[in-house]
Amino acid sequence: MNLSELAARRYTTKHYDPAKEISPALLAQLWDVLRLAPSSVNSQPWHFVVAGTAAGKAKILPAILDFNHARVTDAAQVVVFCAKAPLSEEHLQRVLAQEEKDGRFETPELKAAGDAGRHHFVGLNSTTPEAQFAWASKQVYLALGQLLLGAAALGIDSTPIEGFDAEKMDALLGLREKGLRSVVVASLGYRSATDGNATRPKSRLPAEEIFTFI
Ligand SMILES: Cc1cc2nc3c(=O)[nH]c(=O)nc-3n(C[C@H](O)[C@H](O)[C@H](O)COP(=O)(O)O)c2cc1C
Repeated sequence: MNLSELAARRYTTKHYDPAKEISPALLAQLWDVLRLAPSSVNSQPWHFVVAGTAAGKAKILPAILDFNHARVTDAAQVVVFCAKAPLSEEHLQRVLAQEEKDGRFETPELKAAGDAGRHHFVGLNSTTPEAQFAWASKQVYLALGQLLLGAAALGIDSTPIEGFDAEKMDALLGLREKGLRSVVVASLGYRSATDGNATRPKSRLPAEEIFTFI
């Protein structure tokens, strides 16, 4: 696989073929890509609500801005990326217990050090609830980026969506009560044969402008 070609092939799909579903085997790989995404101090401050049915998509549609409606209704799957808000002590202990179960700690001291290090970084980024949410959201966006490229690698098209009303989404899905806030949305599926964006040239600033090699 050539990564440059893959990155050039991924594009924001504007029109999906509503008749095309993503196979369960490929979906399982996409969900792995989300679950295995990196996050600062392995905090995994996320939850993913997946609308993969007509009913699920209809439920979130009122929170999607009009211009994005078809990107939700015609896509095969729509992921609402949520951040844990607040990042509770219960969640941090849950992560620690999972790391122990997965064999990450050879000694109790290493476990204690891991726990202390995570709390230190969480603390640094939690000066206010909004600061903590902003930090958690950055981790969530990493998962988004990984999903978009991963989908392209599987020949699956995607649309990152910020064009939605987060407060409305939170209310529709009862997210706040669950300690969650919506951050961003992504559609997945297969492009319509008439999606003009598929053939529009990609446009990016030249490499000389955006890189400084020292
Ligand atoms: C975080 C994020 C949010 C975006 N939100 C929308 C959106 O709501 N609707 C849409 O059609 N495109 C959306 N886009 C697509 C961008 O416009 C697109 O990525 C950019 O123009 C580059 O084009 P490309 O993805 O085809 O390479 C979003 C992209 C990102 C990364």
